[in-house]
Amino acid sequence: MEELSTRRVIIVGAGLGALYAALALAPRPVLMISPERLGEGASSAWAQGGVAAAMSAEDSPDSHAADTVRAGAGTVDAEVAARTVREAREHILALTDLGTPFDRTPEGGYVLSREAAHSFARVVRVRGDQSGAEIMKALVAQVRATPSVQVLEGVKAIALDTDGGRVTGVAVQRSGPEGSAPAMLRGAAYLLAGGGSAGLYAVTTNPARIRGQVIGMAARAGAVIADPEFVQFHPTAIDVGEDPAPLATEALRGEGAVLINRHGERFMQALHPDAELAPRDIVARAIYAQAQAGLRPMLDTRAALGARIKTQFPAVAAACARNGLDPAEAPIPVAAAAHYHMGGIAVDAEGRASLGNLWVCGEASSTGLHGANRLASNGLLEALVYARACAAGIGRALGPDSAGAGELHPEFRPGGVMPDPEAIAALRRVMTDHVGVVRNAAGLKAALREIARLEAGQPDCPAFLNMTATATLIAAAALRREESRGAHYRDDFPAPRGGAGTRTRITLAEALALRQQVEKETP
Ligand code: SIN
Repeated sequence: MEELSTRRVIIVGAGLGALYAALALAPRPVLMISPERLGEGASSAWAQGGVAAAMSAEDSPDSHAADTVRAGAGTVDAEVAARTVREAREHILALTDLGTPFDRTPEGGYVLSREAAHSFARVVRVRGDQSGAEIMKALVAQVRATPSVQVLEGVKAIALDTDGGRVTGVAVQRSGPEGSAPAMLRGAAYLLAGGGSAGLYAVTTNPARIRGQVIGMAARAGAVIADPEFVQFHPTAIDVGEDPAPLATEALRGEGAVLINRHGERFMQALHPDAELAPRDIVARAIYAQAQAGLRPMLDTRAALGARIKTQFPAVAAACARNGLDPAEAPIPVAAAAHYHMGGIAVDAEGRASLGNLWVCGEASSTGLHGANRLASNGLLEALVYARACAAGIGRALGPDSAGAGELHPEFRPGGVMPDPEAIAALRRVMTDHVGVVRNAAGLKAALREIARLEAGQPDCPAFLNMTATATLIAAAALRREESRGAHYRDDFPAPRGGAGTRTRITLAEALALRQQVEKETP
């Protein structure tokens, strides 16, 4: 295998956490691995909500932390929540300084949106639903202007190399459909910031590339994974048959949009005192139940926004327009779609994983902030806070020395194995059908058997094995958790277990042992 070495810090991924960490590490030399052109294809750029931060006079970090803990259904690490939300304001100010054009009031304050399960309007945003795109645009411009950052575009990571429990290299290949033989890149330290897993589902709001590869890669190298069963389903993906499904941001409900079914009935009022602004898991299950009953759930923005939706929520309006829908005239059909992975690579307060020389930030990590149900717009906040923590931790671990930090230019020889698109489609189908909004033992076992069968068909394709590793971890942990909690709902165990919730810590070896046990059972 082609092999290249540098004293640069290698960052896998090019979303919000990756860019922010690269800037925080500067002038320390960094090599960033971006599967697409910098700024394209990252789920951060698709974030419509914004960044949750207690910025108003009546709000406080304590209230933000309390909402985070409450939404997380008993498994949020309260210390992590308190520390993370306390830092929110300084990151908003830092993003502003870096050029993010947040919406401002005439008095110079920040315009704040209300999203579900928040006690106050506290989501800082850009032009309604453009937050992720605009923050990314500002950070990409900064990274492009930072000489210490080398970006390898059109390249994806497929495996970690380890020695004695310490990461020593990352195998990469060209990310286009033709692929390439792998090349091994060796750096001074490794930061994974390559997104979550929701694209492992057939119905998802995530970009096509976000399919659990980073979590799977770390798990295959032996990293401990936390809470993989907790996958968040967004209640209002626009149900027009697009893959991925366009999002209709929760901020629309914050503006007063309501959920109705084909009979025009508002069904959320009977289910939760906060109706459409109930915690996301509750709304997602209600949408799913309406759809299963053939009642065609829809988001009605007409009375709340009328034609304003077109200027105030341009991404939602554009998704409607390209599908022949006018939300000022008719309600928007919606479905529950896999949106965010609360679980991920277990990390400590510095973002350090269980493997040596490895840090993780953003959706690929599991810090303990989100518990079983992430509070809206806490995802970008967590990526910012932990990107900076990882950068500081890496700086402390490496000290000032960056001699020998030359650029790497792999030649990428022909060869390599790329995932079979039909196998990916089958994997995504089984995840939606059996590891989705409503789960039970029979379905989860069927999923584990099917994942094993698909994996056996592509044993030499690391990119696919990363996906099946993450799928196995999600399904196995969901099978092991015999209760319902937050986004993890089992119709064979519909109540939470008594007492405080516990977090899952699991290795791929443990998940595979459970999968093998299931394979031995008669279906
Ligand atoms: C949304 O805008 O509804 C999504 C925000 C988030 O997932 O945090």
